[in-house]
Amino acid sequence: MLRFDWDDSLALGITALDDQHRTWIERLNNLSEAIESNQEDQHISKTLKFLVGYSEFHFAAEEKLMAAHNYPLLEQHKQEHKKYRDALADLLLLQIGQADALRKISDSVKNFQIAWLTNHIRKVDRKFADFLDENVAVDMPDSL
Ligand SMILES: [Fe+2]
Ligand SMILES: [Fe+2]
Repeated sequence: MLRFDWDDSLALGITALDDQHRTWIERLNNLSEAIESNQEDQHISKTLKFLVGYSEFHFAAEEKLMAAHNYPLLEQHKQEHKKYRDALADLLLLQIGQADALRKISDSVKNFQIAWLTNHIRKVDRKFADFLDENVAVDMPDSL
């Protein structure tokens, strides 16, 4: 099972972002489960699109929050997001019914996405959380 679970090492202490990261992980798990339980191609394709849609939503919300706080590392952060975006855009081009497509998607989850996401949250998003801690004395909204 490719499932991976949220744990405290991923918490940033910014409620809106933490909630979004949890939802993103849930959607990634849903994709793994759809593949492993041999769901219909159409369902897998929908689950993949759902994941991509959520990651786009999250990147936009996070980048907007960073811009609102004049975060100095925003451009570098956007470049990091782009790596994930580009990799997922490649997956969306796959024809799910064709040979190898499902293997490529599960390889991406196993060998790229889980590692990218955990590393990105722990190191790259963390820098932004630290920046807010040091520079901004405001209550963060619970939703973005
Ligand atoms: Fe990020
Ligand atoms: Fe994030």
